[in-house]
Amino acid sequence: MRDRLINDLLDWYDANARVMPWRVSPADRKAGVKPDPYRVWMSEIMLQQTTVAAVRDYFNRFTARWPTVADLAAADDADVMAEWAGLGYYARARNLLKCARFVVDECGGAFPDTHAGLLKLPGVGPYTAGAVSSIAYNLPEVVVDGNVERVMSRLYDEHTPLPAAKPVLTEYARALTPIDRPGDYAQAVMDLGATICTPRNPACGICPWRDPCAARAAGTAPELPKKTPK
Ligand code: ADE
Repeated sequence: MRDRLINDLLDWYDANARVMPWRVSPADRKAGVKPDPYRVWMSEIMLQQTTVAAVRDYFNRFTARWPTVADLAAADDADVMAEWAGLGYYARARNLLKCARFVVDECGGAFPDTHAGLLKLPGVGPYTAGAVSSIAYNLPEVVVDGNVERVMSRLYDEHTPLPAAKPVLTEYARALTPIDRPGDYAQAVMDLGATICTPRNPACGICPWRDPCAARAAGTAPELPKKTPK
């Protein structure tokens, strides 16, 4: 059951992965291309509270102007803040610079390649450390964002409301993480949530998990995940 779920998801991702400037395609990954941790880190900081569509141009401008973490660490604060203008949540831009300088000054210029090492970086919390570990270094860390919560709540027809359901949904996502392709798996669940298992009108008919999905069988997909009213 587990192997079947993973294989069906990864086959779907191999054929349908969204192209993003910080991503290595599944085909390139299989050919041995490794993602640049600097680019993965920057994308994850920018994607906090911001959509992929809004991030894309900012990411391209930042990495064209500062192609490496050393370039960014040497940048003028005012230039970085000006380049960030319009993206919002400006503490992220200040932390971006702080983190780049920390990597250069305290880590010998290379991003840490463990979850614990990444957690020590300014502006990097458990979510971002998990995402960089998994996407950049292919470590079997679980990555749970809103998309993943929705997909897991539906796959297992979990009606416990968020935020109380977070630990069980995290456990579902962790239990499915494949040891050989954790980075592709993490991004595949995010893509599934963003393109098929959408909050309203999910496209269950073309979902790689349409058969095993418990919420689809129960007809409850559109009402999941439940949320405790604020
Ligand atoms: N949101 C945060 N990180 C992402 C990624 N790597 N792919 C798609 N959506 C994301």
